[in-house]
Parts: sequence; C-alpha cells; structure tokens
Amino acid sequence: MCYLQGEMMKIAVLISGRGSNLQATLEAESDNKLGNAEVFLVISSNPSATGLEFAKNYNKYAIVLDPKDYADRTEYDKKLKSIMLDNDIELIVLAGFMKVLSASFVDYFKNKIINIHPSLLPAFSGLNVHERVLEYGVKYSGCSVHFVNEEIDGGPIIAQKIVEVLDEDTPDSLAARILVEEHILLPEVIKKISENKIIVNERRVKVV
Ligand code: GAR
Repeated sequence: MCYLQGEMMKIAVLISGRGSNLQATLEAESDNKLGNAEVFLVISSNPSATGLEFAKNYNKYAIVLDPKDYADRTEYDKKLKSIMLDNDIELIVLAGFMKVLSASFVDYFKNKIINIHPSLLPAFSGLNVHERVLEYGVKYSGCSVHFVNEEIDGGPIIAQKIVEVLDEDTPDSLAARILVEEHILLPEVIKKISENKIIVNERRVKVV
C-alpha cells in the first residue's frame, strides 16, 4: 500500500444496520481527521439500514446490495468487486457489515479490507460478543481493527482499545462503552493507513 502525499485514498464503507461507525468516520472526515482518506462510497447489505441516512446527510454516494437479489455469495461478491474496481476504491472498511465475504474476494483485496470488531481479538470473535464476554467473566474487553482474511474476525490485528468490564455490566452497557472507543479507533486507523503509517509483516502490524 502506498499513497502519495496530497493524493486522496478513496475508501468504501460497508454497513448493514445502525451505521454509527460510518457516522464517526464521516464526522472525522468533515473535521479533517481522516488523513488522506476520502469516503467515496457507502454500501449497505440491508435496504433499511438506518446508517444509510448518514450517507445521505454527508452527501455520499450510497448503494444497496441486498443479498436477496443475488443467486449466491459468488454472484454477490462479483458485483461488489466490480463496484470497487469501477470506483478505484483503495480501502474497504467493514463497519458493522454482517455478511461474510468469499475467500476469493478477500484474497483479491489482501490487506485492503479492514474490519472493526467489538472484542479484544482473537478472543470472542463472531456474534453475541458481549453476552459471551460477560458469561465467561473476563475483566477487560474492548475493540479491534484488523485486516480481513478468509477466517471470520481472523486477520492481522492493526490496533485495539481496552475497556474494563464492570461488575454491574449488562451486554448493552458494555456494548455502549466499547462503541465509544470504536468510534475513536476506526477513524484513527483509516487515517494511519492513508498516511502510509501501517507496516504489515505477516501477522505483525506496526503502526508508525
Ligand atoms: C459494531 O459494534 C461493530 O464492532 C460490530 O457491529 C457493530 C456495528 O455498529 N461488528 C461486528 O460485530 C463484526 N464482527 P454500527 O452499525 O453502529 O457501526
């Protein structure tokens, strides 16, 4: 990955629902806190995602790609890939995108797809994270931004933030505190990538 100074890195943000991480990214961009990155388009897998409103509010081009309109994952990912290539997208940001991408898509865009996940990976990958965190009884949780590979929530970790689990926490209260950190972490990582400040060496990712 190499972006020349002064050149903008076009990013696509993929969502499926609420879109608060999209909102945080758009806010960072409008506050000039997204480095050389520009949110070029928003894609939602869900036609009624409330996050689509944020794209509209910030005058961003948004596309709905509903899996129901495609025969299978291969067809869906083919369409997604063509949109990425037609728009010269350089970084794909999964921000609450609840659809698993095919191995061939992920391979094609190696180290060009990042995902935000609400746990300290590799612990508690997958769904119902906060319920499982509380059941297990860990004292710290948090959030991770990682490159996407063919394993679910399994790619090289770029950055994490720690959140203490409190005795009185419910899944919702813990999720809410972690979300605050997610909204800081995701734009920070996008900024670093756009400034060529991320060095990937196998699984070890250095932020300089
Ligand atoms: C966020 O908490 C994000 O970390 C999580 O979904 C939520 C989306 O919220 N993602 C995953 O669990 C992916 N494995 P948002 O739509 O308000 O950004």
